[in-house]
Amino acid sequence: MTAELVLNNGVRMPALGLGVFQSPPEETAAAVEAALKIGYRHVDTAAAYGNEREVGEGIRRSGIDRGEIFIETKVWVSDYGYDETLHAFEKATRKLGVDRLDLLILHQPAPDRFDRVVAAYRALEKLLADGGVRAIGVSNFMRHHLDDLLSQTQVVPAVNQIELHPYFSQPDVQKADAEHGILTQAWSPIGGITFYPGWGEERRNVLEDPAIGTIATGHDKTPAQVMLRWQLQHGRSAIPKSTNPGRIAENFDVFDFELTTEEVARIDALDTGVRNGPDPDVPRPAFFDRAIPEE
Ligand code: A2P
Repeated sequence: MTAELVLNNGVRMPALGLGVFQSPPEETAAAVEAALKIGYRHVDTAAAYGNEREVGEGIRRSGIDRGEIFIETKVWVSDYGYDETLHAFEKATRKLGVDRLDLLILHQPAPDRFDRVVAAYRALEKLLADGGVRAIGVSNFMRHHLDDLLSQTQVVPAVNQIELHPYFSQPDVQKADAEHGILTQAWSPIGGITFYPGWGEERRNVLEDPAIGTIATGHDKTPAQVMLRWQLQHGRSAIPKSTNPGRIAENFDVFDFELTTEEVARIDALDTGVRNGPDPDVPRPAFFDRAIPEE
């Protein structure tokens, strides 16, 4: 396990990044600044999160050289299409206050308008060729979305960011990614998502899982740290979200212990096959059509 991963185009990416999904704009700059001061060098945001400007502000406030920081963001569905996605890049860089992005990915496979997905991806290929972005990729793609995209485009995505925590680890998508040389990146890597109906009465929180708790106690670590270590030992990237400085630090303090093969297997076995987030194959036109502001 290394703290840095090499993408399929040779670009190096810190394995662990700060996630800012649902980080309120007013708390985001402080969270990003705190994370960078603790040692994070990778931040994952998205046009749809409405906090790219604050991510940029946190980066500037940290005083850390831009060149040392890996900035990842996502194009929202309403900006899919060739010219629209080129323009989405302009919007994102303007809000972040940077000239160049390290990784730009398509946020959703949007199966109801896959022709626009393909056009958007071709725009990412153009941005990559022109040097505006150092790597390109996708998010929430399942195997058939990858197959459809790869059959119509040239550059294999560097990254596929998917819901991935011990209760939903998507071995099928991980396998598809691996077959194509795509790095799997985990969103909700500690299963902290709490915003979808999930399992109702059956709902469980992986942070309270007894098997993970036992492993954590054995290493004198927390369940979140064990899950992040599990992600990293599998060679995945992970982007835990927190706006709490203590938890931001906790989530980065995962480089001084190692899970055994048996412990990793015990966590692997927790997969329920039930997703908590939205099904990427179900179109949500009203949601997809939400416009991303210019400023
Ligand atoms: P907070 O921002 O208040 O820390 P995920 O990235 O897996 O979706 O998890 C994010 C959720 O988990 C957020 O609600 C976040 O809240 C919480 N969280 C982040 N880090 C930890 C941690 N180390 N222990 C417990 N909860 C955490």
